Amino acid sequence: MIIAIDGPTASGKGTVAAGVAKHFGLKRLDTGSLYRAVGLALLDARVDLADEARAVAAARALDLNAIDEARIRTSQAGAAASKVAAIPGVRAALLQAQRAFAADPAGAVLDGRDIGTVICPDAEVKLFVTASLQARARRRFGELRGRGEPVTFEQVEAQIAERDARDTNRTDAPLLKAADAHLLDTTDLSIEAAVEAALRIVEAARLRRGAT
Ligand code: CDP
Repeated sequence: MIIAIDGPTASGKGTVAAGVAKHFGLKRLDTGSLYRAVGLALLDARVDLADEARAVAAARALDLNAIDEARIRTSQAGAAASKVAAIPGVRAALLQAQRAFAADPAGAVLDGRDIGTVICPDAEVKLFVTASLQARARRRFGELRGRGEPVTFEQVEAQIAERDARDTNRTDAPLLKAADAHLLDTTDLSIEAAVEAALRIVEAARLRRGAT
């Protein structure tokens, strides 16, 4: 069973993906981490984020098993990720690795922006997780402050709005709810309630498909 989970930044999709993967004993790929790692590689090399050739080379050279989890989680790496993610050559270079991950016979959970639309259009279950801009900014602000990043709420809200615009308006694989995706709005849900709601959607979809 492949479960595709998409949604905008700080919507709770990562938490939902982790909870669903744990519940069903499936492995999970946070595809945003791939774009973050490519963005970070360019930042480290002090290369312009719009340098297509260097960005594509970094994407081709990416080792999924050697991603520095701590360093890719900064807001700087997130912003860099959404810039390199708009480069079609970068997306093409990362496509096969994501499909290979999803091809595991046991199934998998993948979360990102284009899983249900481009990477795994035939996924058995698709979720589109979203929340209001205010709620997402509050969550991301708490996360970043918890990690000691000196940001204000207004800065975080502006960054999220900018990232939404870039992810939604790019021409290649924009952030988009697949027609057959189930919408999960987590604005007023706790983490537990969001995961519970996702599990109910997945279970219902499996039953409809006749899975046991
Ligand atoms: O954690 P957060 O939601 O802030 O971002 P992320 O999921 O780590 O993704 C970082 C950036 O990578 C996004 O803003 C997208 O531009 C890009 N991305 C993408 O284009 N396609 C994906 N499947 C996943 C992420």
